[in-house]
Amino acid sequence: MSYIEIRNIFKIFGPDPKSALELAKAGSDKDEILAATGHTVGLHDVSLSIEQGETFVVMGLSGSGKSTLIRHLNRLIDPTAGEVSFGGEDILSMDIPTLNAFRRKRLGMVFQRFGLLPHRNVMDNVAYGLEIQGQPRKTREAAASKWIERVGLAGYETKFPDQLSGGMQQRVGLARALATDPEVLLMDEAFSALDPLIRSDMQDELMKLQTELHKTIVFITHDLDEALKIGDRIAILKDGKLIQVGRPEEIVLHPADDYVQAFTRDVNRGRVLRAKSIMQPITGPDDGMQSTGTRNIAADTRLEDILPLVLQSDDVILVHGHDTTPIGRITKKQVIDALSSETYDSYLAEL
Ligand SMILES: Nc1ncnc2c1ncn2[C@@H]1O[C@H](COP(=O)(O)OP(=O)(O)O)[C@@H](O)[C@H]1O
Ligand SMILES: [Mg+2]
Repeated sequence: MSYIEIRNIFKIFGPDPKSALELAKAGSDKDEILAATGHTVGLHDVSLSIEQGETFVVMGLSGSGKSTLIRHLNRLIDPTAGEVSFGGEDILSMDIPTLNAFRRKRLGMVFQRFGLLPHRNVMDNVAYGLEIQGQPRKTREAAASKWIERVGLAGYETKFPDQLSGGMQQRVGLARALATDPEVLLMDEAFSALDPLIRSDMQDELMKLQTELHKTIVFITHDLDEALKIGDRIAILKDGKLIQVGRPEEIVLHPADDYVQAFTRDVNRGRVLRAKSIMQPITGPDDGMQSTGTRNIAADTRLEDILPLVLQSDDVILVHGHDTTPIGRITKKQVIDALSSETYDSYLAEL
């Protein structure tokens, strides 16, 4: 069993959700149910398993059910039907005090609009969760200082939110969420309000923190590039239904349907795909021998970095894993075929 288990969740908004639930279970979709009953389908039979330590991204257009899904994880809302558990614990059967303790101790949340307390300075905002937990001032300020420094805001402890840029405010939001050392970080469009460059910095920052922290992160975005950049796995929602779950390269190479395909069309494939996603695996020692003497790259190398190498010659390139043992091989044709023609052209223009 995975750390977070979401099982057959339906969420119907409206005065009589149970009646609409029957229609949903019988196969009616969101538009049909709205037309027939006036009820809105938020989620339609969604099941997901999220592993401990992974960055799990939920992606979809506005109204597809992303926020509704994340609100089931902190139980801000209860499902019309279905189950949600953390580490084998059913959160839907928790009483209010248990649920409050669960939220305070095990979850950290980062919101799109930052959600900082305007009359508290950076230190007191970051220490807020620890204060709620009843930690003494010294303990919480020590922890808060550590996280303020970690997110690059040392020196800003006594500033107030309105004295900070959007990017800095969201760093405070991140530090505040991390200060209680939660198991799970829930981030609902946390970077969506930021300017592109700042946003990219925050994505890098989060990924850097994550290589050290190994939190379970559930990150919501409507932006596929963001999803592909930071997600270990990505779930794609449409009209409340789960359309596809997969690693970034699976989503790009094998979109489940036209909806996903439409998202992936403009993706920079050279940046998403890596040697290991397109290589032809080497099946045994004899097989590997045939390719000795050629060039060698790591399995994680991105196609954008492989392209200049393959263009220089027609040699096969060997791909190696964590040690130097070859695990696969790549040809020029495979690299070019895996890139979209737009990506390929733009790389050629840069070279
Ligand atoms: N409290 C609510 N009452 C009625 N409908 C809601 C409520 N919350 C969300 N919805 C509807 O559920 C669907 C999914 O919404 P939401 O989860 O907010 O989407 P997203 O976060 O992907 O933009 C939308 O059609 C939305 O209008
Ligand atoms: Mg939302």
